[in-house]
Amino acid sequence: MDKRNVFVAGAGYMGNGIAQVAALAGYEVVMCDVSEGCLASGMEAIESSLGKLLSREKISGEQAERALACIRTTCDLKEAAAADIVIEAVHENIELKKEVFARLDGICPPHTIIGTNTSAIPISSIAAATSRPDRVVGIHFFGPVPLMRLVEVIKGLLTSEETMAAADNWARSLGKETVLVLRDHAGFVANRASMPSTIEAVCMVDEGLATPEDIDRATGGFDFGVGPLQIIDNAGLDVGTGAAMAIYEDTRDPKFFPPPLMRRMVTAGLLGRKSGKGFYAYSGGKRESYLNAGKFAHESKDERSRRLAMLLQRFIIPNMFESVRLLESGVSTARDIDKAIRLGFNLPQGFLEMADSLGLDAVVEMGTGFYEETGSDKFFSPPLLRRMVAAGLLGRKSGRGFYEYEA
Ligand SMILES: NC(=O)c1ccc[n+]([C@@H]2O[C@H](COP(=O)([O-])OP(=O)(O)OC[C@H]3O[C@@H](n4cnc5c(N)ncnc54)[C@H](O)[C@@H]3O)[C@@H](O)[C@H]2O)c1
Repeated sequence: MDKRNVFVAGAGYMGNGIAQVAALAGYEVVMCDVSEGCLASGMEAIESSLGKLLSREKISGEQAERALACIRTTCDLKEAAAADIVIEAVHENIELKKEVFARLDGICPPHTIIGTNTSAIPISSIAAATSRPDRVVGIHFFGPVPLMRLVEVIKGLLTSEETMAAADNWARSLGKETVLVLRDHAGFVANRASMPSTIEAVCMVDEGLATPEDIDRATGGFDFGVGPLQIIDNAGLDVGTGAAMAIYEDTRDPKFFPPPLMRRMVTAGLLGRKSGKGFYAYSGGKRESYLNAGKFAHESKDERSRRLAMLLQRFIIPNMFESVRLLESGVSTARDIDKAIRLGFNLPQGFLEMADSLGLDAVVEMGTGFYEETGSDKFFSPPLLRRMVAAGLLGRKSGRGFYEYEA
């Protein structure tokens, strides 16, 4: 099936980004929203983004013009009747999404695949609102869509293999790198694997072990990517708390429950960049650390490097353990789990690759140390990891861990 006609429901931050990348890839796009005002804002965002890509010479003037000519706007969902693929990017509300899916199901021809860009709602629940759950799939873009290369393609309980393959091919035809999520798992791969460590970063600030800057520095945020607390400030603490809560509500696993500091900050309106203050204070385009500021002023150089090394280990262990759990529960492959982390967070390695490099026995030992010190289950190593160590699969140094290595 040639998916030339794309229909995007929702012209907001994600919807207009998706419409833009689809049009740039040569698809005929119809972008739909509830009012002409929303559509006008969506088109303005597209024009501004294309302008930036043009000024950085990422695209030519001709490509920008052609892309704009490929996008049509409408307030009428019935125009999805000509769509080969629909991407839904309306507000994150299950009732709204179900209503939109039920309507789309009645409008679209039988061959149409309907993808949802939901961040946290189970794909199977949305698919249940249609008569074609085999043709409903999660197609999870990361924002800003024109810049982020990662797309997670998520299989609902009833999504067919053909739909997974078609959604995967379509996302790759937009120039994106895809990760296949084989189970309808809360938080999918990238957000699920990173959430326990993000929460750990907040706990370390709350326990007075670090300033936000210490954490972001120790985890490489100021070198090759953006640190976890910078990410929450950029996304909004309300959004981060909501994402953690969504995984907690689905799993009741306490390691996903947003910690007190995070909840109090949301209540106090410290939402991050958008409110001027979050884990950092922002003024005149400058970012300043203010939480626990001055606390470590008298620490020696050695004490500081020991403390930063401990912060890094305590941050990285829950990430590694959650990546192992994703692997052992068949949510995705080691390669895709690592790829999601590399592309989603701009890190040089995924956490399974990192564990292989450190040595899986060393990783278990670090986890055990933190487990004994804190009593927290989040540091209790997952069964697969312990079995691998018992079997002598120690990573790079033994020639085999999550990957195989030449001697
Ligand atoms: N913001 C992110 O970084 C991000 C990342 C990945 C996924 N998501 C998910 O993408 C979806 C959209 O998020 P967003 O940030 O673009 O939100 P947004 O608020 O910017 O945009 C949502 C748009 O949907 C429109 N809408 C509401 N009801 C509609 C309907 N019945 N028909 C058509 N349009 C309708 C709204 O008018 C609005 O313009 C959510 O499910 C969100 O969880 C967001």
